[in-house]
Amino acid sequence: MAEITRDVLIVGAGAAGLTAANDLRKAGLSVAVLEARDRVGGRLWTDVIDGAMLELGGQWVSPDQDALIDTVAELGLETFSRYREGDSVYVGPDGVASRFTGEMFPVSAETERVIAEITERLDAMVAEIDPDRPWEHPNAAEWDSITWDAWLRQQTDDDEAVLNLAFATGSAMLTKPTHSFSLLQSLLMAASAGSYSHLVDADFILDKRVVGGLQQVPQLLAERLGDDVLLNQPVRSLEWSDPSTGSGTQFVVATTDELTVKARYAILAHAPVLYSRISFVPPLPRRQHQMHQHISMGFVIKVHAVYDRPFWREQGLSGTAFSPYELSHEAYDNTNHGDERGTLVGFVSDRNADDVFALSAEERKERILESLSHYYGPEAKNPVVYYESDWGTEEWTRGAYAASFDMGGLHRYGADLRSAVGPIHFACSDLAGAGYQHVDGAIRMGHLVASNIVDSSRTASETAAGAE
Ligand code: FDA
Repeated sequence: MAEITRDVLIVGAGAAGLTAANDLRKAGLSVAVLEARDRVGGRLWTDVIDGAMLELGGQWVSPDQDALIDTVAELGLETFSRYREGDSVYVGPDGVASRFTGEMFPVSAETERVIAEITERLDAMVAEIDPDRPWEHPNAAEWDSITWDAWLRQQTDDDEAVLNLAFATGSAMLTKPTHSFSLLQSLLMAASAGSYSHLVDADFILDKRVVGGLQQVPQLLAERLGDDVLLNQPVRSLEWSDPSTGSGTQFVVATTDELTVKARYAILAHAPVLYSRISFVPPLPRRQHQMHQHISMGFVIKVHAVYDRPFWREQGLSGTAFSPYELSHEAYDNTNHGDERGTLVGFVSDRNADDVFALSAEERKERILESLSHYYGPEAKNPVVYYESDWGTEEWTRGAYAASFDMGGLHRYGADLRSAVGPIHFACSDLAGAGYQHVDGAIRMGHLVASNIVDSSRTASETAAGAE
């Protein structure tokens, strides 16, 4: 088995791990990035399917995502705006599709009033939340003990208002049923985007894409690291020692099927649900064992439908469409930059995703395209390319978009989420405050962890020099 030695070993070549690795290199530390897959990028993956370039994972950039925007600019990548000219479509409880412009969709005046009032209440609550420390809010325990759905139903008995308010953080973001996560978790999701209003504003949250695909971010970051990124190296075990507990010199040793990598620090830069795939020697502390069992991935199918032309534009439609009553609860124009063909992207989330995966592939496709046709008309049923991104079957991700706490977990464990365990540090979009569950959060976590390790390494060198 080959052996290498570095200052820091990083498990995972996603946006978080590669950002950390580049920062550490700049600070003069040597790194090795061990990646389980045969490609870099993790949940960022641009592929060509039946001749169509598709972004199978993360793709959109919103204007508040400074860390991602800075990285995109620094790497010399260009962005373009999502197509949004024309009318949006909303399908109501009666199954009727209505066109609208602006932010408020066509519901009754009373439902509109209720939605506006609760949105204002939510924005005020979110403004009091620090996304990096939501558990510190004086009401955190209470807000973490009521489900998002139950809290909304306490505010109003208008079902259409509840479903529309619920799905912004439910199907559309945490991608879990709204009875399975707390009000506090929902407020964190909104706080990470600046406000609840931002989160429901598609023009804000789904603002821009990168020409050629967002996977270029990790690809270009990896290029700078050259041979220090090692693919096809799933880390199976991590031996570690923490001198602060009196167990000798600080070290970590990662073992893959082919390699042993020895370092002073390790960064686990992947979804927290995968920590348990690694055998830790000695085991992680009790707190981590407990906490990690309360974090789980959401689940959504990202559906790509490519047509010979963006036919909906001819009907004056922007492509933006949503409905809490539809199988595909939201859909957008996702045409690539400079492409003559038209692409729609739709999302099928949580229980709807479970249901359609019980069907045959043909039936599932038919049901999903039927749902898209409710927004765009019968032409939507005949794409030239059709593809479902199913991250649930990806061994090194296990769901989409990201991970969140179950009921009560955020308040109970959140403060320990990002704490290092001896030489082992944790970085991932799923641990972020600002940019939570987004590439921006992954990059922020990468910078933060790298800076913590640089500080710790400097202190260790100074202590060693002082002792001489
Ligand atoms: P990520 O999961 O990307 O990387 C972790 C890496 O670790 C992976 O490459 C994995 O293979 C590797 N790994 C795991 N265990 C390992 C082991 N034991 N040994 C070695 N390697 C191991 N975000 C956004 O900003 N805008 C968007 O539009 C979207 N949309 C979206 C759609 C879909 C379908 C998905 C799945 C996700 C999004 N996201 C998104 C979320 C975004 O993609 C995600 O938050 C970040 O890419 C996560 O980056 P990380 O580096 O934190 O983890």
